[in-house]
Amino acid sequence: MRTYLVTGGAGFIGSNYIHYMFQKYGDEIRIINVDALTYAGNLENLKEVEGRNNYTFVKADICDKEAISRIFTENEIDRVVHFAAESHVDRSIKNPEVFVQTNVLGTAVMLNCARAAWENPDGTYKEGKKFLHVSTDEVYGSLPEDGGYFYETTPYAPHSPYSASKASSDLLVKAYMDTYHFPANITNCSNNYGPYQFPEKLIPLIINNALQGKKLPVYGDGKNVRDWLYVEDHAKAIDLVQEKGRLFETYNIGGHNEKQNIEIIHIILDTLQEMLPENDPRKEHINEGLITYVQDRKGHDRRYAIAPDKIKAEIGWMPETMFKEGIRRTIGWFFEHEEWMKNVTSGDYQKYYEDMYQGR
Ligand code: NAD
Ligand code: TYD
Repeated sequence: MRTYLVTGGAGFIGSNYIHYMFQKYGDEIRIINVDALTYAGNLENLKEVEGRNNYTFVKADICDKEAISRIFTENEIDRVVHFAAESHVDRSIKNPEVFVQTNVLGTAVMLNCARAAWENPDGTYKEGKKFLHVSTDEVYGSLPEDGGYFYETTPYAPHSPYSASKASSDLLVKAYMDTYHFPANITNCSNNYGPYQFPEKLIPLIINNALQGKKLPVYGDGKNVRDWLYVEDHAKAIDLVQEKGRLFETYNIGGHNEKQNIEIIHIILDTLQEMLPENDPRKEHINEGLITYVQDRKGHDRRYAIAPDKIKAEIGWMPETMFKEGIRRTIGWFFEHEEWMKNVTSGDYQKYYEDMYQGR
């Protein structure tokens, strides 16, 4: 049975990936999820899987060498899927150091421990071992409004402390591949949206604020463009890269779905109106009047757009969920999980670990 070590599995994309993997492989795989449970980690995201015999949660910081190397010595890890990171650009502008700590040093610890566990004395690696580093399109910098795409060959030009720390971690992975022939892949993905996303990011923040009749903050002129991908499509791409991709390669993953932020907000308002029942009182206040232009983000990248040609040609992956469908599914999920949103916005979710795991 193949054993996966997933880092940051209690976050947004990591938890969606774990759900996807158990749906796809059931009892054929084992997953160990290591997560420090920062503000962004929420074990409620994994309630449905925590009783499985083939799932284990370990609370640890990826910068903690001893804790990470213990996981490798106590378990025969076959695959690492490395999500754990500080992930929010605005937080990185306020407090950059923790981004360097987790994203750069944490990745160095993960690489070092995996290499120590997997490398043979002659410099080859044990059969079938693979490390996948989950990264972002933001490492490529910003595109002009009127054209161009990010390719795997686009030079790195990060602007925010977040993207600079992710770029540094990507370069470390590349250095491990070049220097030690370390068996890895890097994926650079565009903006994700979907269930379990923390409401500091644009889409869940707008859904939550609109439902509560709060202002919808638009940075700058609202015309910055992002290329949105439904999170399950990302989870699928990561699995396919490990299954079918060529080792040592980078794959760009993107939605072919470029939208200005202001367009996203209009789509959310319209979809909420369509999906709420006729007699729901919230329909009264969900309208454009909530939109509020605020001061722009410092160093705000104008446009991101991925060319996913390589992953399509080599692996056959393409985004499957159209935005109209994905946003309906996301909003439907938030309707069904009002308690989740309440716990996240009140901070109560952080008590969940104590309640569930004390004395275990
Ligand atoms: P997230 O912030 O929702 O989750 C991050 C998870 O990592 C949390 O569970 C947190 O507790 C954990 N974590 C943070 N610091 C840690 C540490 N020191 N040790 C152990 N665990 C730690 O992030 P996300 O949106 O799920 O992103 C996951 C990965 O995907 C990140 O590497 C991010 O750069 C990348 N990515 C995200 C997007 C996006 O749109 N969200 C797009 C492309 C790539
Ligand atoms: P975000 O979800 O933070 O992702 P990223 O910065 O990593 O792309 O932001 C997406 C876009 O939405 C970005 O251009 C900033 C903008 N934005 C707002 O206009 N208002 C907001 O309240 C937030 C959180 C983001």
